[in-house]
Amino acid sequence: MSFRIQPAPVARPNRCQLFGPGSRPAIFEKMAAGAADVINLDLEDSVAPDDKAQARKNIIEAIGDIDWGGKTLSVRINGLDTPYWYRDVVDLLENASDRLDQIMIPKVGCAADVYAVDALVTAVERAKGRIRPISFEVIIESAAGIAHVEEIAAASPRLQAMSLGAADFAASMGMATTGIGGTQENYYMLREGQKYWSDPWHWAQTAIVAACRTHGVLPVDGPFGDFSDDEGFRAQALRSATLGMVGKWAIHPKQVAIANEVFTPSAEAVADARAILAAMEEAKKAGAGATTYKGKLIDIASMKQAEVIVRQFELIAGN
Ligand code: COA
Ligand code: MG
Repeated sequence: MSFRIQPAPVARPNRCQLFGPGSRPAIFEKMAAGAADVINLDLEDSVAPDDKAQARKNIIEAIGDIDWGGKTLSVRINGLDTPYWYRDVVDLLENASDRLDQIMIPKVGCAADVYAVDALVTAVERAKGRIRPISFEVIIESAAGIAHVEEIAAASPRLQAMSLGAADFAASMGMATTGIGGTQENYYMLREGQKYWSDPWHWAQTAIVAACRTHGVLPVDGPFGDFSDDEGFRAQALRSATLGMVGKWAIHPKQVAIANEVFTPSAEAVADARAILAAMEEAKKAGAGATTYKGKLIDIASMKQAEVIVRQFELIAGN
């Protein structure tokens, strides 16, 4: 095992990130009043090219004017392959109030993409004397992004979270899909004439979780497009939580409660985790490194698993 200790990610709840187009200021107050831990005001793909300038103004105004409570407030800028992104950064950092916490960089393909935004943000922060440094989150949503995921996770001390963007990812990979996340009709195994659906997002999610955990970044699952399908959203969120992700995007307010529920450890899971920790304490006192709980082996690794659940629960409860 490496002697290097795995760095802890930022200690903040990140169960749900609610998105809204910057060109639709009428919903900003509703976003602020909802139960999402993170708000993402969008300047990128939900805003038409002709509306970008007005959307920047709407967002800058709303950052200062609306009471966002204790939420993490993030703005998704345009990708580095567009003519918009530098103006997004400069206008936001020069004019938005200190309430802005984070910038989300989409379609990141390599560490240098993050470095470029970091350089620009740092220069504007210094020029304007901004005291609170802006943090970053990125979206992995291209073949290059997933190929370079680990160097991206290590690219900047500002980086706090990383999401998988299923739709752009699928397009970039040349995947034969049109849905945004979830089960894909043609991705199945066949056994004795029965279809068993498999998870086409599994590899990318796991690669993101590994890169994030190595470098102390929060891994987050991105959008689930069919907002009429609550059970599909729940199934996708449950798989993500099982793989180590801490939260999921909502592209409609009705998805927020489901994400919060899935990514909050249940009372039963917390009780089990605490019982495991207590059983291990007893074992330690007796000089043993392993014992049994509910008829199953538990050891030091079980303790670490239990600690993850208890820590996550306490973090959410404390907020
Ligand atoms: N945040 C907060 N409130 C929202 C919302 C959002 N993202 N989207 C819709 N609402 C509100 C509506 O204003 C409406 O409020 P009302 O009951 O007071 O009238 C209510 O929720 C129900 O909305 P509904 O009619 O079902 O949806 P819609 O047709 O107004 O909008 C979308 C549907 C998908 C266009 C809209 O939810 C949206 O823009 N989502 C975010 C898209 C985005 O940001 N994409 C980028 C990331 S992938
Ligand atoms: Mg995208």
